[in-house]
Amino acid sequence: MQPSFFRNFVLFAELDDRELGSIAAVAKTRRYAKDDVIFHADETGDVFCLIRMGRVKVTMTSPEGKEIILSVLGPGDFFGEMSLLDNEPRSATVIATEALEVVTIWRSDFLQILSENFSITRKVLAEISRRLRTASGRIESLATMDVYGRLARYFLDLAAQQGKIVDNGYIAVTRPTHQSIANTIGTSRETVSRLIHDLMRQNLLLSEGKTIYLRQSALDQFRAEV
Ligand code: CMP
Repeated sequence: MQPSFFRNFVLFAELDDRELGSIAAVAKTRRYAKDDVIFHADETGDVFCLIRMGRVKVTMTSPEGKEIILSVLGPGDFFGEMSLLDNEPRSATVIATEALEVVTIWRSDFLQILSENFSITRKVLAEISRRLRTASGRIESLATMDVYGRLARYFLDLAAQQGKIVDNGYIAVTRPTHQSIANTIGTSRETVSRLIHDLMRQNLLLSEGKTIYLRQSALDQFRAEV
């Protein structure tokens, strides 16, 4: 890979050509198919991954075998940093939800890059802080909100992360499956389907192909409720 290719990643945006060259020298590309497991929770970690194309879900499994989705990550996002930093096993299972291409960097190279480039270390720490804030918000909503409130917060987060304003007062987001929404907010698929159906009946939400359109007024209503 050409060093300049790495400039596309926000993580490396501030590096000069020589520094990009040293990243290019140690990075490799790996490809995965939809549903491939990239890491299993509890296995030893030896590699850092940056998503070049595709998406992953970060999951845990409940004692009853139910999947809990902690996060969904897409192009430009990274994963696999935690066990390299704390020398503990992988904290979660990471699964490709679509065809995936990642740039990988081995542990010793990753740690050396962090020690030599404070701009990268700072961005990694900022992203870990953001994830901790999201996790705290999730703990709060599980402890204090009913399932409608949790769904409202889910859509607000989704709109903030990837919402695109389209005509006539709607915000477009990629449509997650009802099962993956259920596994993220801690309820059943049937409950999610029922609540989404109610929102559609009130014209607060439209679903078309792979896109959900959220009416701006629905987001205002959600904001007032959470
Ligand atoms: P690691 O523990 O090495 O392997 C699993 C990865 O999943 C972890 O590093 C993080 O990159 C990612 N991860 C774990 N927990 C979360 C979370 N709550 N939100 C987003 N990503 C996470």
